[in-house]
Amino acid sequence: MTSSDSLTGRVALVTGGTSGLGAETARTLADRGASVAVVGRDRDRGETAAADLATRTDGTAEFYRADLASQASVRRLAAEFRERHDRLDVLVNNAGTFRAERTVTADGVESTFAINHLAPYLLTHSLLDLLVASPSARVVTVSSGIHTRATLDFANLQGERGYDGMTAYARSKLANVLFTDELADRLAETAVTATAVNPGFVPGTGLARDASLRNRLLLGAFARLPLPFTKGLEEGAETLIRAAADPDLADVTGVYLSDGEVTASSEESQDEEARRRLWDVSAGLVGVSPDWAV
Ligand SMILES: NC(=O)c1ccc[n+]([C@@H]2O[C@H](COP(=O)([O-])OP(=O)(O)OC[C@H]3O[C@@H](n4cnc5c(N)ncnc54)[C@H](OP(=O)(O)O)[C@@H]3O)[C@@H](O)[C@H]2O)c1
Repeated sequence: MTSSDSLTGRVALVTGGTSGLGAETARTLADRGASVAVVGRDRDRGETAAADLATRTDGTAEFYRADLASQASVRRLAAEFRERHDRLDVLVNNAGTFRAERTVTADGVESTFAINHLAPYLLTHSLLDLLVASPSARVVTVSSGIHTRATLDFANLQGERGYDGMTAYARSKLANVLFTDELADRLAETAVTATAVNPGFVPGTGLARDASLRNRLLLGAFARLPLPFTKGLEEGAETLIRAAADPDLADVTGVYLSDGEVTASSEESQDEEARRRLWDVSAGLVGVSPDWAV
């Protein structure tokens, strides 16, 4: 992929696109000419981001305000997007959270699971017809290398029997890989691909804002020191951008991209029974039929 590969005429929607890796990804897609819509909770930051994107792209730049912890808000976002667009070429499910304490959303779901996994699931469901309407579309879901440390305990999927922030986060990132693989299989006969992404360790983002004080201090120190295992925003976003736009990956689906390369995801993430069960459980939690994307 070269920085000159034009995305003019393509439409991208990036959640968490007003800060961190999502904002960097949105800027690069706009620089290449794509119409870019970003999703975030803060109107001021969102409108500032959209104004900046407008100066970069040949297409349109938009901000959608949505709280992805709320299923009603996810549905509203999809409805508002389809009022302005009849097709979507790139959906980047990037928004994510890390919570030291267990909290529950208005829908009664543990927040990490709701924001990191159920929101991508429901948003992709709600926009699938627009993705299918594209001559070739991509669903990029931002996972993490930490998914390799997770197991999926269906009896404690939402930390109801004991919550640990890191366990909940890692599990949600495993769910991102399982979702991607199941989606890719279900969409095999379409021109829509699904890719899970690990950007690497990028300590300078806002991800740790709800982590414990100890973890926030640790990440702050990592962000300041030039350590070999840490990345800056630009470098971290490269893998998202590759998944979203690299022509070499146009027909590649159901893969995990880590540090820019197709890499084997964890053994746990390759459990086909678990991924189908997670799909069905997720459908129940967001109130849709599990028979979608087939
Ligand atoms: N940084 C890393 O080292 C790293 C490593 C592996 C994977 N990741 C993944 O990369 C993705 C981006 O994270 P980041 O590191 O760039 O952190 P970040 O700067 O905190 O970005 C996260 C984004 O998610 C959005 N978000 C969180 N909760 C939301 C909600 N309820 N509704 C709507 N938007 C919400 C935030 O939007 P607001 O502006 O509205 O808060 C923010 O823009 C995440 O999925 C994360 O798990 C990060």
